[in-house]
Amino acid sequence: MTILVTGGAGFIGSNFVLDWLAGCDEPVVNLDALTYAGNLRNLASLAGDSRHRFVHGDICDAALLDALLAEHQPRAIVHFAAESHVDRSILGPQAFIQTNVVGSFTLLEAARRHWGGLDAAAREAWRLLHVSTDEVYGSLEPQAPAFTETHRYEPNSPYSASKAASDHLVRAYHHTYGLPVLTTNCSNNYGPYHFPEKLIPLIIHHALAGQPLPVYGDGQQVRDWLYVGDHCAAIRRVLQTGRLGETYNIGGCNEKTNLDVVRTVCAMLDELSPRGDGQSYATQIAFVRDRPGHDRRYAIDAGKIERELGWRPAETFETGLRKPILWYLQHQDWVREVTSGEYREWVHRQYQP
Ligand code: NAD
Ligand code: TYD
Repeated sequence: MTILVTGGAGFIGSNFVLDWLAGCDEPVVNLDALTYAGNLRNLASLAGDSRHRFVHGDICDAALLDALLAEHQPRAIVHFAAESHVDRSILGPQAFIQTNVVGSFTLLEAARRHWGGLDAAAREAWRLLHVSTDEVYGSLEPQAPAFTETHRYEPNSPYSASKAASDHLVRAYHHTYGLPVLTTNCSNNYGPYHFPEKLIPLIIHHALAGQPLPVYGDGQQVRDWLYVGDHCAAIRRVLQTGRLGETYNIGGCNEKTNLDVVRTVCAMLDELSPRGDGQSYATQIAFVRDRPGHDRRYAIDAGKIERELGWRPAETFETGLRKPILWYLQHQDWVREVTSGEYREWVHRQYQP
């Protein structure tokens, strides 16, 4: 048996592939376009491991998808590939529509062709798990109850709108064609291999580089933080035992304001890698112009996945956050590489025709 993972060289996808192969021997075919966010170095520990087959390619390439499904006959697809950064979606939404909407549609069509040609037993066992975000639900008032799976979709950024569109397509392919799909909507992740454009790795990177720590607006926006390993465990659980056509919210029960997050990162860095001048990294905090349309609060009610599938996060924010901080301190070469453009040059050299 084999699974096909899309976007497995990105932050969550690479954590998922590494965790998967640490826990079982079922091979992974990993399809990734290696955009700026994809990094084969994340998977360096799998070099020479015959259970991992990396394929450099685009989910918008229908012929490639058909060929991969025919060759490897995966029993499941776990779909991570996406443009994932809200700020980039505000500056340039087109790539988000292309990958998140057109790419997910192309994948669904390939899945439908492939699944339709399987025998009855294989069709029954087959799965497509679509990895999505809590941002599709929009923004919550301070005292409003957390998002459940029946919360109305109210996406506010081009990123969340493109993810919402893909969620709706996945739902429609189940409803109309019977494609055996599962969707997960998860809160903000943090952990190793997180690209330093997102809040937590950016703060760690800027703090250590002696640069200002940019906090948008008043820093009172709230996110629900989940350790990436807990997200990967939830995805495995949904893939194994989730009910077909259902959606599952995944969250960490860790609501924090951005300012609290930044201060906690600074305090941990003060302890683990103190500044030479004895001052706290918190002195580098700088309030900057707010993000346009910035969602004020996200919070996840993960009661359904806990009740139905028995999943709960293992890490609290405090225990989980030490892991990426230690990881970043120990992997400064990785950080230098992804921030220097060196990696992009390497991809160009490696894959030029
Ligand atoms: P990421 O940006 O780190 O990685 C995305 C990966 O997809 C990269 O390796 C990139 O090269 C690849 N990719 C992009 N376009 C592609 C294409 N057209 N074809 C093939 N590969 C392509 O993203 P992430 O943070 O790892 O997020 C993974 C998934 O999880 C996304 O679908 C995202 O919406 C979702 N999600 C993320 C978070 C979070 O906090 N990061 C939370 C909830 C859900
Ligand atoms: P981000 O990591 O981009 O995730 P998302 O926008 O998907 O939730 O940002 C998390 C929060 O941190 C969000 O409210 C925006 C804020 N933020 C800053 O205050 N400063 C920054 O430099 C970044 C990148 C984000």
